[in-house]
Amino acid sequence: MEIKTLCILLMFVGIAVAVKNRMEKGMAGGIFDSAKPKSIPQDVVESALVKFESMRARLEGRYGRSLTRPSVTQVKVQVVRGLMYHVTIIAGLSPTPKESKSVRPEVQKDFFECHIKVWSQPKMNSESSLSLKAQDFSITKDCQASDIKDEYRDLFDKFLMTFKREYRQNDGTNEYEYRYSVFVQNMLTVEMFNQFEQGTAKYGPTKFADMTEAEFRKLQSGPLKKTGIKKQAAIPQGPVPEEYDWRTHGAVTPVKNQGMCGSCWAFSAIGNMEGQWQIKKGELISLSEQELVDCDKVDGGCEGGEMSDAYEAIIKLGGAMSEEKYPYRGENEKCKFNMTDVRVKINGYVNISKNETEMAGWLAAHGPISIGINALMMQFYFGGIAHPWKIFCSPDSLDHGVLIVGYSVKDGEPYWIVKNSWGKDWGEEGYYLVYRGDGTCGLNLDNTSCIVD
Ligand SMILES: *[C@@H]1O[C@H](CO)[C@@H](O)[C@H](O)[C@H]1NC(C)=O
Ligand SMILES: *[C@@H]1O[C@H](CO)[C@@H](O)[C@H](O)[C@H]1NC(C)=O
Ligand SMILES: *[C@@H]1O[C@H](CO)[C@@H](O)[C@H](O)[C@H]1NC(C)=O
Ligand SMILES: *[C@@H]1O[C@H](CO)[C@@H](O)[C@H](O)[C@H]1NC(C)=O
Repeated sequence: MEIKTLCILLMFVGIAVAVKNRMEKGMAGGIFDSAKPKSIPQDVVESALVKFESMRARLEGRYGRSLTRPSVTQVKVQVVRGLMYHVTIIAGLSPTPKESKSVRPEVQKDFFECHIKVWSQPKMNSESSLSLKAQDFSITKDCQASDIKDEYRDLFDKFLMTFKREYRQNDGTNEYEYRYSVFVQNMLTVEMFNQFEQGTAKYGPTKFADMTEAEFRKLQSGPLKKTGIKKQAAIPQGPVPEEYDWRTHGAVTPVKNQGMCGSCWAFSAIGNMEGQWQIKKGELISLSEQELVDCDKVDGGCEGGEMSDAYEAIIKLGGAMSEEKYPYRGENEKCKFNMTDVRVKINGYVNISKNETEMAGWLAAHGPISIGINALMMQFYFGGIAHPWKIFCSPDSLDHGVLIVGYSVKDGEPYWIVKNSWGKDWGEEGYYLVYRGDGTCGLNLDNTSCIVD
């Protein structure tokens, strides 16, 4: 073998992707530290994903089936004139319609795999510099249908046991195999999230691991509408405390569970009201989300809503009843509001700065903040400080309402403590820790609080 060829072969460094695939340390010989996932430029992965998206319609047309969210499963880097990144992207094919018999064998495959080469070239006029800042992309690709991966069977069966799913391997339907293929797609996404995570977060098979992205989005959240004119909250002057946690100041009720209803907005707003009431009046009362689901006619109940509309609805109704008197049902029902049972009244609401230092200052001085966030990364969140790449978690699609109850710093990483409404068996005992300071997942763009006089 020619020395040159050998060199190039040795330069191939695999980024392990499957859980079982550890980093291919052997091949890297421990020398090519630069091949750690963190050293792969975000724009290389982004270019490959953009390329994939540009082919989506054609691929879907060819197979008559839609493609799911793509996962980057492998990135190899090769030194050429510049750097050549070999990016493998896998997407699932939506299930074959059950009635259709005349499908080509190829169409019965479950996955679609594309190998996209992204060539990052040095600038012509600066021959010596391989700086990625000077990159000039050139992209080539090849794609083909591939078979379902069997290596996740054990994990899937464990998942089914843990979360007591109904479908079983021999139940005479295709549900088991279909859910398995969704699970595999999700595990590929999980591995991608784990590989490119910039914080300490871990992703894995949560209770949502057998749901498609569309099912998850529909289930957990409704699109948030932005309406209403809010007053801007005054930001406290002076130094911002290093850390603050309203849970240790008695202003936060235990984590609740919205169930199969897109009522996150109600949980976010009610959590904020519980906090404001406790801070002003000294009494922590668990309040009724169901009152908002049933009686707030501006918002969509289980089909989604917006926190500022929720404050407005509570003001119009005359106050919030307790959870005890108006318990959560997780379905749109007839309004059973009763003025005599109102426990908490609010007087208005404000929007809060999107500057995260100012948000922290406001929080420490006044209480928990309702926020909107892109929930994409939360589907598989296990714990740790989540700090995803922007390309995986766009700040433009805020689809989930949650409550910031505190913030802190761990090993130099600043983070927010976010109360979610998916039960205690999700995340960090029901909480989401997310990086603070760069608008991760758009968490600073829909920031409100009610006011209790
Ligand atoms: C927030 O408050 C400021 C100041 O009152 C206002 O200019 C801004 O439009 C408000 N934002 C929203 C979304 O209401
Ligand atoms: C409202 O609640 C009060 C006290 O709990 C009760 O006496 C009254 O009958 C209720 N009104 C309605 C319309 O349910
Ligand atoms: C955020 O607010 C702090 C405190 O008011 C200020 O020092 C800082 O410059 C602001 N950052 C940005 C990006 O505006
Ligand atoms: C959050 O605060 C920022 C800064 O005031 C503002 O631009 C943004 O519109 C706010 N979001 C909402 C929905 O009020």
